[in-house]
Amino acid sequence: MVIAIDGPAASGKGTLAKRLAAHYGLPHLDTGLLYRAVALTMLDAGFPLEDEAAAARAAEALIADRLADPRLRERAMGEAASRISAVPAVRAALLAWQQRFAGNSQGAVLDGRDIGTVVCPEARVKLFITAAPEERARRRHRELEGRGETTTFDAILADILARDARDASRATAPLKAAADAVMLDTTELDADEAFEAARLVVERARPH
Ligand code: DC
Repeated sequence: MVIAIDGPAASGKGTLAKRLAAHYGLPHLDTGLLYRAVALTMLDAGFPLEDEAAAARAAEALIADRLADPRLRERAMGEAASRISAVPAVRAALLAWQQRFAGNSQGAVLDGRDIGTVVCPEARVKLFITAAPEERARRRHRELEGRGETTTFDAILADILARDARDASRATAPLKAAADAVMLDTTELDADEAFEAARLVVERARPH
């Protein structure tokens, strides 16, 4: 069983994906980490983010070890990842990686922006997670402060809006709900309630 979870920045899709994976005993891939790792590779090597050929090479050479770097979670890396993720050759290189992960025999949970539309269009379960931008900014602010990053709510809200606009307007695999995705708005839900709502969607889709 493949569960595809998409949604905008800080919508809670990562937390939800992790919980569903633990509940169903499935491996989980946070695909945003792949784009963040490509961006980090570029920055560490001193390449400007506009260098599309270097970004494509970094994506082709990406190894799983890089996905554990704590710097990937920093606020600046989300922005950098969003920028390199618009490069078609980067997306093409990471597509095979993600499809290999999803194609293992037991199934998987993947979260990102284009899982239900491009990476796993045949997924049995597709969820599109949304929440009001202010609520997403509040959650991300709390999370970053918890990790000791000093940022303001306003700066994070501006980040989120800019990132969503870029991710939704790019030509290749934009942020978009699949036609057959179930929409879940978590603005008024806490993590437990969001998990329960998602679990019911999965239960309905499972073979009995
Ligand atoms: O989910 P995240 O915030 O870690 O993702 C960082 C950026 O990576 C996001 O702004 C756009 C890009 N991304 C993407 O284009 N496709 C995905 N499946 C996942 C992330």
